[in-house]
Amino acid sequence: MAEESEVSSLAPPRSYSRSDEELAWHMPNASRHKKSNKCLVYILAGIVIQSIILLSFASVVLRVTTPAVKLRWVAVKNLKYDSTTPSSSLNATLIAEVTVKNRNFGRFEFENSTASFTYGDMKLGDMKIGTGRVKARETNRVNVTAEVRSNGLPDNMNLSSDIGSGTLELRSYAKLSGRVLVMKIVKKRETPEMNCNMTLNLSRGEIQDLLCN
Ligand SMILES: *[C@@H]1O[C@H](CO)[C@@H](O)[C@H](O)[C@H]1NC(C)=O
Ligand SMILES: *[C@@H]1O[C@H](CO)[C@@H](O)[C@H](O)[C@H]1NC(C)=O
Ligand SMILES: *[C@@H]1O[C@H](CO)[C@@H](O)[C@H](O)[C@H]1NC(C)=O
Ligand SMILES: *[C@@H]1O[C@H](CO)[C@@H](O)[C@H](O)[C@H]1NC(C)=O
Ligand SMILES: *[C@@H]1O[C@H](CO)[C@@H](O)[C@H](O)[C@H]1NC(C)=O
Ligand SMILES: *[C@@H]1O[C@H](CO)[C@@H](O)[C@H](O)[C@H]1NC(C)=O
Repeated sequence: MAEESEVSSLAPPRSYSRSDEELAWHMPNASRHKKSNKCLVYILAGIVIQSIILLSFASVVLRVTTPAVKLRWVAVKNLKYDSTTPSSSLNATLIAEVTVKNRNFGRFEFENSTASFTYGDMKLGDMKIGTGRVKARETNRVNVTAEVRSNGLPDNMNLSSDIGSGTLELRSYAKLSGRVLVMKIVKKRETPEMNCNMTLNLSRGEIQDLLCN
């Protein structure tokens, strides 16, 4: 009972004949409605545009690509070879520049790594790349050394005939285990591999036709 009386007292009876007053009250209300509708459209458009900007930012900046590992050059030192069977052998010191190119918008860290030189399927020597940290959108260069020894190669290899021919086909392989970290948001494991082919020209004592993929 008390509630009913309160409600009736808050809403005084209005006569419907005063339509002018009603219009005067309703008109500004309607235009306010239109304004707030426009506002809502602007806000929504803003949100959509911001989302598009954020998405394209994310797709460019947060997308992780595998860093590239390559040999830029290989120099030969202390080259000694003997093609007389059965004692055919080859010894050399190979110095190489390894590059790690990181195109990501975050750093690439890799664990202790080594690269190997092989002849056919046989390993001739290793070089230490070590651990590393490549800053965002930078390329690290490091000079590494491998002592290459052919002793221990099985006899069925064509070493003596290859040495006799004056050139040896060598390959270098490395795998870096690491991760790319972008803005403390993305943390992705990446294990770039290096595969290089080259020809050791014995008479020149040089590496030629170095090709990495
Ligand atoms: C290469 O080095 C080994 C020892 O590491 C040696 O026995 C061999 O005679 C060397 N070969 C040449 C051609 O000097
Ligand atoms: C890196 O690895 C090499 C052999 O693979 C090892 O001799 C060396 O001690 C290692 N270095 C570190 C810091 O772990
Ligand atoms: C690697 O060696 C070359 C030639 O000796 C030198 O010019 C270059 O600065 C070296 N690079 C590094 C990173 O030590
Ligand atoms: C040695 O050379 C012959 C002829 O070029 C080839 O057929 C054979 O596969 C080679 N052996 C090895 C171990 O590379
Ligand atoms: C190796 O070097 C010699 C001397 O410079 C050259 O005559 C020869 O063509 C080279 N061998 C190859 C396979 O390019
Ligand atoms: C290196 O040589 C191997 C075998 O001859 C071949 O399968 C590979 O495609 C070559 N790689 C490059 C980068 O030329």
